[in-house]
Amino acid sequence: MSRIRIRMSRRSVLKGAAAAAAATSVPTGWAIAQSKPLKVGLMLPYSGTYAKLGENITYAVEMVIAEKGGKLGGREVQIIKLDDESKPELGPQNADRLVKRDQVDVVIGTVHSGVQMGIHKVVKESGTLTIIPNAGNGAVTRELCAPNVYRTSFTNWQPAYGMGLAAGKRGVKKGVWVTWDYAAGAESGEGFKQGLEKHGGQLVDILKLPFPQTNFQPLLAQIPGLGVDVVGAFFAGGGAVQFVKEYAAAGIKVPLCGSGFLTEGTLQAQGAAAEGIETALHYGDGLDNPKNAAFRKAFKEKAGRDVDVYAVQGYDAAQLLAVGLAAVKGNLDDEKNLHKALETAKIDSPRGPMSMSPQHNVVHNIYLRKVTGGENKVVGIAAEQLADPGTGCKMA
Ligand code: PHB
Repeated sequence: MSRIRIRMSRRSVLKGAAAAAAATSVPTGWAIAQSKPLKVGLMLPYSGTYAKLGENITYAVEMVIAEKGGKLGGREVQIIKLDDESKPELGPQNADRLVKRDQVDVVIGTVHSGVQMGIHKVVKESGTLTIIPNAGNGAVTRELCAPNVYRTSFTNWQPAYGMGLAAGKRGVKKGVWVTWDYAAGAESGEGFKQGLEKHGGQLVDILKLPFPQTNFQPLLAQIPGLGVDVVGAFFAGGGAVQFVKEYAAAGIKVPLCGSGFLTEGTLQAQGAAAEGIETALHYGDGLDNPKNAAFRKAFKEKAGRDVDVYAVQGYDAAQLLAVGLAAVKGNLDDEKNLHKALETAKIDSPRGPMSMSPQHNVVHNIYLRKVTGGENKVVGIAAEQLADPGTGCKMA
């Protein structure tokens, strides 16, 4: 289906024939669009194991809007928040509420890969501009990529691939991946495997449990018998706090590493159990660039807590939106210029250099970090300016 048809059907279904008529007369449609507030739907987890992730994204989005004087592209911004609870089964109906009932102009969401699939189904059909501030599922910027969907975070493959490369380079021969049994766990496990294999290592198994369960003991009990040199893991939020603590308490001798989410935004709660853990991520403590310094200070003032990668991704989602809106002076119907601006946006990110891939995913450095003194200290670059393969993406 062409983009024009998507937009036509969205207008006629969602806004009625009057809006469609107004939009065909350029000056009137443009004037109407300009005078109406820009409705931004934030579909994020505000409860459950990923609640803090959703909160930090929200704080950061609000910061950008405040920095721009409450307006994007000349339009007042109205934020509508929806708690998606990280429940995939509610994804489509929640996205529908924002798009059809609340008639948002833009969706910023979400965190959980399974919920993202629900959003994707709805916004692919409606044509609503969507910016993903976390969820890393490959499909939405690979085989299911869409012209109206952008991501300012990562694919699950990217950080785990960086970690696998770093471990393999160091001579790790056998590794195991421990994770939740859903897209983020499987795709990060695949990334870790490919990274290890690049240097002649191998992944012997993936141990998993259903999301968001935290009954880790049966998995931990298997590890000593596997004969591996390293254990890699994808967990995040509250689940990551508990996993790292239980891993340390179990006294397992094999070093633990992972996608950086394992120790991101969690170190205060993990305490000594996290010391020495190596992870790979597109952000870390000690990155020395002016934007990062300013952002860390401002975020702490607003949120009363330290920056983490989720805050950075939310900040960049809103920065990207601001670039797009500025380019079309608030007129989202100017799709040609909107997408040109979004695809070529130069975002000054606290993470350092970043750009958009042709599939609308982020190209950025994957840093190697080591938990030292309660910080995820950047100790090197695991993969420089890493792009996701973007396999199977055909933009309509
Ligand atoms: C995901 O579901 O894609 C996901 C969730 C939390 C993270 C990273 C990825 O920290």
